[in-house]
Amino acid sequence: MTNLQVVLREYPQGLPEPGHFELKKGERPVPADGELLSRTLYISLDPYVRGVISGKHLYADRVGLGDVIVGRTVAQVVESHHPDFKAGDLIACDNGWQEYKVSDGSGARKLAADIQPLSLHLGILGMPGLTAYAGMTFLAKPQPGETVVVSAASGPVGSMVGQIAKIHGCRAVGIAGSDAKCAFVTDSLGFDACINYKKGNLVEALKNVCPEKFNVYFDNVAGDTLDAVMSNLAIGARIVLCGMITQYNVSGTPPPGPNLARIVGARASMLGLVVYDYYDRWDEFAGTAEAWFKAGKLRFKEDVVEGLDNAADGFCRLMRGENFGKAIVKLADPE
Ligand SMILES: NC(=O)c1ccc[n+]([C@@H]2O[C@H](COP(=O)([O-])OP(=O)(O)OC[C@H]3O[C@@H](n4cnc5c(N)ncnc54)[C@H](OP(=O)(O)O)[C@@H]3O)[C@@H](O)[C@H]2O)c1
Repeated sequence: MTNLQVVLREYPQGLPEPGHFELKKGERPVPADGELLSRTLYISLDPYVRGVISGKHLYADRVGLGDVIVGRTVAQVVESHHPDFKAGDLIACDNGWQEYKVSDGSGARKLAADIQPLSLHLGILGMPGLTAYAGMTFLAKPQPGETVVVSAASGPVGSMVGQIAKIHGCRAVGIAGSDAKCAFVTDSLGFDACINYKKGNLVEALKNVCPEKFNVYFDNVAGDTLDAVMSNLAIGARIVLCGMITQYNVSGTPPPGPNLARIVGARASMLGLVVYDYYDRWDEFAGTAEAWFKAGKLRFKEDVVEGLDNAADGFCRLMRGENFGKAIVKLADPE
């Protein structure tokens, strides 16, 4: 009747290390009336968790020392005293980095078992997928024939952005941090091109790949990559500011930003994106994206580590940019 958990041992300064986290054996909680107990099957490792740990996240409380690390999960209901859930139900919920959690059901979504692997509900069919869908559908509004550029292109947000671009009849150009990631982005995801920004001059590479300039840039990283893409914007371009992962581990003075005068020259728009504004679109997104998936229109890649004792290491690899695909921790198979 135990409950293995990963808790915060020390606040990281800069990049997190596995030693900032520790395993703790707690007691398995018991659900009261109106509550359910679920067992975690998969944990999503997400860049925003770095901001929650350091208290920089806009919408979540800072993780305290000794507290369980937060995170979206796929879980199976073990015991339920809640009218909407029964034992055996598969759910997406917020169990965090632990084996079991009691909840009142708020924030839990029931999952059909016909989409496999179930961990996709944490990646392209989960919060990162909704982020890409919302940013493309409601902010970027891509038109057939336009060119869409996206950074962190092999990750769940970036991979979905490019595939949605292709579904809309656009040209998709990825930016990623290794040749292997770029090969996956073009060969498996079907992007038209992908540039390894760690090799050569990104500004030149972007001009070579797309002399006619870009109509949409979906920015997942900020910093130098954002500055480089802004040197090649088409008139009327839209920039969706989604993520700034180059800055999540920086403490002290932020690095100098991009030259925003380029936005003016291109009469472009930059659009801020917060996925929570679109949570009332879950059913629309799930219906659309699951139909795309079942029709074979979506590909994905996961970077799975096994067991809670490897969760901290997986998160630290994600923070160093070494994950290749949606970062997931697998705890158990459903029964
Ligand atoms: N606005 C919102 O509501 C919202 C919602 C969800 C996610 N996001 C943001 O979207 C972005 C992508 O999220 P994701 O879940 O799809 O992540 P992900 O792509 O699986 O992982 C992050 C990737 O960022 C890239 N990266 C570039 N510079 C980096 C650096 N200095 N340190 C670490 N990684 C670096 C790495 O890929 P390369 O090797 O290819 O560079 C890394 O694999 C993140 O910035 C995230 O915070 C925003």
